[in-house]
Order: sequence, then C-alpha cells, then structure tokens
Amino acid sequence: MSLELKGITKSFGSLVANDGIDLAVGDGEIHAILGENGAGKSTLMNIVYGLLSPDSGTISVDGKLLEIKSPSDALAAGIGMVHQHFMLVPVFTVAENIVLGHEKSNRLGLLELETARIEIERVSKEFNFDVDPDAIVETLPVGIQQRVEIIRALIYDAKVLILDEPTAVLTPQETDELLRNMKKLRDKGTSIVFITHKLREVQEAADKITVIRRGKVVGTALPTATQEELASLMVGRPISLEVEKGPAKFGAPILKVSKLNVFDTTGRRLVKDVSFEVKAGEILAVAGVQGNGQSELAEALIGLQHHVTGEIFLDGTHIKPGGVREALRAGMAFVPESRELDGLIASFTIAENLILDLHDLPPFAKGISLDPKIVADQAEIRVKEFDVRAQSVQDHASSLSGGNKQKVVLARELSRPVKILVASQPTRGLDVGSIEFVHERIIAERDSGRAVLLFSTELDEVVSLADRIAVMFSGEIIAIVPADTSREKLGLLMAGINNENAKSA
Ligand SMILES: Nc1ncnc2c1ncn2[C@@H]1O[C@H](COP(=O)(O)OP(=O)(O)O)[C@@H](O)[C@H]1O
Ligand SMILES: [Mg+2]
Repeated sequence: MSLELKGITKSFGSLVANDGIDLAVGDGEIHAILGENGAGKSTLMNIVYGLLSPDSGTISVDGKLLEIKSPSDALAAGIGMVHQHFMLVPVFTVAENIVLGHEKSNRLGLLELETARIEIERVSKEFNFDVDPDAIVETLPVGIQQRVEIIRALIYDAKVLILDEPTAVLTPQETDELLRNMKKLRDKGTSIVFITHKLREVQEAADKITVIRRGKVVGTALPTATQEELASLMVGRPISLEVEKGPAKFGAPILKVSKLNVFDTTGRRLVKDVSFEVKAGEILAVAGVQGNGQSELAEALIGLQHHVTGEIFLDGTHIKPGGVREALRAGMAFVPESRELDGLIASFTIAENLILDLHDLPPFAKGISLDPKIVADQAEIRVKEFDVRAQSVQDHASSLSGGNKQKVVLARELSRPVKILVASQPTRGLDVGSIEFVHERIIAERDSGRAVLLFSTELDEVVSLADRIAVMFSGEIIAIVPADTSREKLGLLMAGINNENAKSA
C-alpha cells in the first residue's frame, strides 16, 4: 500500500511543528524519516495515525483521500503505529492489550481473547518474536513490549507500519533483529515508515530517506549517501563526525564507589551492589539500554537519590547519601539527564543560571547580595567560551534551544574547580553540531586531568569517547571492559549475557 501526504501543516501555538510537509511512501518500501530531536517527526506520524488533526493538508492511501480522525480510522485504513513511548496497559496481559481499544478492524471484527492468543502465536512464530500471550506486560523487558506493539499492528493487518524511534530502547543485537524483521515485512509487501536519528540504521535498512529539519522537508536521499552527507542535510551545514582523541594519561583514582545500592520508595532495588573507580585523566563510560539503573546510579552519586546504601568517596572525601551540596563542594560537576527539570531554572536568566551553585561564594556574593556586574561579566565570558547562541545573557534560560541549554549547564559545571565530571546523556536531543562541541569539551576535561564518568545509551558515543566501558544491565554493572571491546560483545553485555562468567550450559 502506498501512503501520500500533501502539505501537512500543524502548529502548537506560535510553533510550526509541521510546515507544508509532502511525503510519498511507496508500496513495499522502507522509508526512513531522518531528523533531529524536535524536527517534527512524531507530530507528523501522530497526524497520520489520527492522534492529532492537521491544520491543513491531505493524507491518501493508494491514491484515495482519507479522513483519519482517530487511531481506529487509521487501523481500519491499514495504518499501524508503534509509538516512541509505548501505549500498552502495564497490568494487562499481552493478549488483553491486543484486544483492547480497537473495536474497529477490517479483518477480525470484534477480537476475542482466544482469537487474539492464536493470532499472537501465529505472528510470533513467523517473526521469531517469542512472546507469551498471557504474560503481564509490565513484567516484560522493553524490547519485548515493543514486539507486542508490532504484533498488534500486524494482527490488525497494517499495510503501512509506522515505527517511531523503535531502536532507542534496543540493544545492538535487538536492533539488528528488528531491522531484519522490517526487511522481511517489506518483502511481503508491507510499507514501513521508519523514524530515527541514527544514520547507521538508515543506511542499513532504508530504501528511501526523507530528511526533516524544523518542520520542513529539506531533502530526500538514498541509503548510498554517506553519513556525513545525511548529517549535513539534518543540520543544514557541513558536519564532521569524527571524534579526535589522543591517548589517556591516567592519574590517581578520584571517584571510588563500593557496593552501592539504590532503592525506590517501595523498596525495589534499582542499582545492585555496584563497585567501580574512575581515575584522573580517564573517561569511564557507563553503557546500557535505557532503564537499567543508569539514571538512578548517576543521581545517587550526586546525592539526588535518598534510599541508598554503600560508600562513595570523592578524592578521599566520604559523600553521604543525599548530600548534594557536599558532593558539589567536594568537586563533582554534574550534567543531569533532564536539563529542563534538574539542570536549569527556566525563569532565571542565562547569567543567573550560570552561577546557580556559586551564588553564595565570592566573587559573586557581596555580603548577602549578588554583584550584578560581576555576574554579567562572567556570564559573557562563559557564553563565548562555550559557544552559547543567545541574544543576551539577560535572556531567560527558557528561550534557549536544547543544545544551548546543555552548553549553559556544561559552562556552569565546568567553571568550578571540579575533580570529576559526571555527565548523564549529555548529548541526548542535541543537534549534531552541539554534539560535536560537547564531545570536544568532555575530552578536554579528561586531558586536563579530570576524571569523567559518562552515562550514555548511545553506543557510538560510548565507543568514541570511553577509555574504559562499564556495562549496566538490570541494575548491575555486569562487566567493565576495555574501550576497544567489539560492538558485538558490548551488545551481548547490554542484554545481560556475559560469556566469560557463563556457567557451562
Ligand atoms: N502537544 C504539543 N504541544 C506543544 N508543542 C509540541 C507538542 N508536541 C510537539 N511539540 C513541539 O513540536 C516540535 C516537534 O516535536 P516532535 O514532533 O515531537 O519532534 P521529533 O519527533 O522530531 O523529535 C517540538 O518543538 C516540540 O516541542
Ligand atoms: Mg519524536
């Protein structure tokens, strides 16, 4: 089935998220939509799936104009979607989730639970999905939950399958398997809209590529295009994807963590007996599929988690659980995963945000008040050094783009006399140009003798920056391996498979 969009426009207030988008997805084609975070990909696909209504524009399937007012309309027209954030009911079984909420379907009519079970097993077998229809969804790993969403679309006979950033939650091996299954589906005639920002995957699986930037289609390409060409299209200027990094000069251990456990409020253990150290002049990267305890570990180190056991020493100073200020004063810089929530105060100016942790120290504090001239002058210097693109340092932080917010956080955190930089997903959602800048700064920190602990779910980032790699799975560090470890081995570790420790089967 072919899908054609013409002139799709959608605004949220003054923001034009989709601006006259034309897209033609051919019959039995894998069509990649490539674009940076915020480019408008999910908005466009939510329109096609009936979750949002466009301000203008048309959708047609096999040349026939469609009116899609809800996901049921989309499903009835043969359009299925797997969302970036899954839409399953966690306490229901797989089969119940598949029956749920889709009364209208062109093939099965009202789907009975028993029919659903049979269909799940049929599709599971065909694609080697290995999904138990009676499993409770919340007990399943995310990779399997995604399969449930794919199965649901296939059972409802989707002829166009939309996958919104499906690989974000997968290990490299799971990603390879998904790409193989996408090709299998395509070969049977299903059209696939594959949304991603990962160039490697686009080159591997796509038949055609449409690149979106700031709500507009800026070009189309074939998978034979180089990664540099694709990245340049995404960003709108020439881009180098190489990270330049010399050999590391290790010093003394700076951060020592032993037998650290983190619990949630219900007593569930999210980080399990984690021990490691990071040396001066070293980048230790923590790799893993998202949701395996990395965020909680990072937060525990800076004192943002409250149910913690075990020991943390920063250059000999014992850091007590919950001791944020203590950790900062002992020389920890922290770049949080969520800049909007933890990194910046949106209603403060850029200049004020640059001194959030320092405002009660000289030279900024004069008695009990801030010296506005010094605050502003320092801000000008930082903004230049960290290439923050803003009209004025007196603008509110909320006016900055994601990449520039991240630069402000980095500028603030690295302007203190720190001993270790703990950075959690520091490039998530940034444009390729900002990513380049952040990577250079992280390497510069290492080269100036600081320790760096980098949490990243992007394997490319881990491999290009790390001196050693710790892999987290299910709350544990299941191995710490050299930086030149193969992707394949890293992928197995990310899935919790450590052959070295495996007992004979
Ligand atoms: N419901 C919404 N209300 C307001 N703004 C939104 C909404 N959904 C998306 N946006 C904005 O629209 C833009 C495009 O978002 P999105 O389509 O999610 O991008 P992508 O999927 O390419 O990362 C972003 O600036 C985002 O903040
Ligand atoms: Mg999206």
